Amino acid sequence: MIIQSKYEHIKDAKHAVMHPVYKEKYACSKISGILDYDFTGQIDKDLGKVTKIHTLGKLDYQYIYFVGLGYKDEATPHSLKEAFAAALKEIKEDHLVIDLKRALTDTLTFDVIAESFTESALLALYDYKKVGHDSSTTFELLAKEDVKAAIEKGSIMANAINRARTLANTPSNLLTPLDLEQEALKLFEKENVEMTFLDNAKLQEMKAGGILGVNKGSALEARLIVLKYNGNGDEDYTALIGKGVTFDTGGYSLKPAASMVNMKTDMHGAASVLAAFEVIVKKKMKANVYCIIPTTENMISGDAYKVDDVLTMLNGKTVEITNTDAEGRLILADALTHAQSLNITRMVDVATLTGACVVGLGGDHTGVWANDEAFYKAFSDASEKSSELTWRMPLHNVFNKPLKSSIVADMVNSAAPKGGGANVAASFLSEFVNDDVAWIHLDIAGTSFTKETTPLTPKGATGVMVRTLANLFDV
Ligand code: BES
Ligand code: ZN
Ligand code: ZN
Repeated sequence: MIIQSKYEHIKDAKHAVMHPVYKEKYACSKISGILDYDFTGQIDKDLGKVTKIHTLGKLDYQYIYFVGLGYKDEATPHSLKEAFAAALKEIKEDHLVIDLKRALTDTLTFDVIAESFTESALLALYDYKKVGHDSSTTFELLAKEDVKAAIEKGSIMANAINRARTLANTPSNLLTPLDLEQEALKLFEKENVEMTFLDNAKLQEMKAGGILGVNKGSALEARLIVLKYNGNGDEDYTALIGKGVTFDTGGYSLKPAASMVNMKTDMHGAASVLAAFEVIVKKKMKANVYCIIPTTENMISGDAYKVDDVLTMLNGKTVEITNTDAEGRLILADALTHAQSLNITRMVDVATLTGACVVGLGGDHTGVWANDEAFYKAFSDASEKSSELTWRMPLHNVFNKPLKSSIVADMVNSAAPKGGGANVAASFLSEFVNDDVAWIHLDIAGTSFTKETTPLTPKGATGVMVRTLANLFDV
């Protein structure tokens, strides 16, 4: 796909023109005049609706696609994206000129419209099977100013979101923990990023018992991937930490066959933080950020960890395993401990952590747990700006209590006698967070995957939270 800036002249449009139109605007009496028939009554101006008009040889181009944008005073960058995305699913032209000035409002400038169009084209037309086979479809964004920089900005964001989708859609035989390491290496080797890859030998030396415990049943090594970006001098660092379970069988607490389907996406948290980090680095944001990914499979073998085993975690706490399927919290706990050894002041973890979160919140809202009001406010502002739905959930001692029931260890890894499993999982993680660190936990079990195609999100892995996490630093 090629998206380029086009200055001024619509006349040399080759074949087809997209003509965005708001509800209030009287549509195009000028063109009606040229074409010599009044089609204005036929145009559907509802959001994303397409009306195709043939120019009958009276203009240089053959078709005009009117695209409804809804009411002008309700228009936002997000509503534009939805309208463009819906329209592009219908307009199957391989060369299209988009007349941006028709979408201008007081706040929606040429740049905003160009960035929105770019994002929606890349996101809406994403197709896992076509990744790597670039199409020659060309979109020319007609404007009275150069919108190249806006196109570049939109491309960075959408390509990163698509990268997260591709990583999570890739089956686990083709995306192992080592492949994830290679992906990070490839993405950032030419960038201002310091990279450390901790292998099993190093994790043993450090005594990262959470990651190693989960990894024991796998034929493949685990990794703790640590990426560091310095874009703001000696300011404090924030860590973005993502669960990278490349396949979750449940281990000896084996998942039933139907629940195991799609567990290749149990590394979507890792994909989200990696992609958000990519945006931060490529946009050269003024921020200091770590991206930390604990990654392993959760498998069964003669060597796998078992129920009743006790693991000694990286921070020295002991955990009795009551369910090997509650593996995400174990690898994340070590990652949280490691992050805090790096002198960070804020951290966000992202994980496909619990089925309970899907039951409680469904597939549209990401669950949020936060121990710091100011950090929560910054996060929720970023999620609103990004049009990604989130919902705050309780962090409370009542959910830590059931975890303290072990007679052989400090904690158990799973116990929710009164339900609320997503809150209990968050409380488990909170046991590994120091009081002076601002921390947010995001459970994306429900939002990381969709069975239905919506205008901006084809079915499959969604790329959720990439935009919000990147925007958290775009201040
Ligand atoms: N990866 C799963 C959570 C999950 C479930 C993600 C459904 C996406 C869709 C996680 O490792 C898990 O198995 N959690 C258990 C925890 C339980 C054993 C306390 C769960 O939710 O059942
Ligand atoms: Zn599990
Ligand atoms: Zn899992």
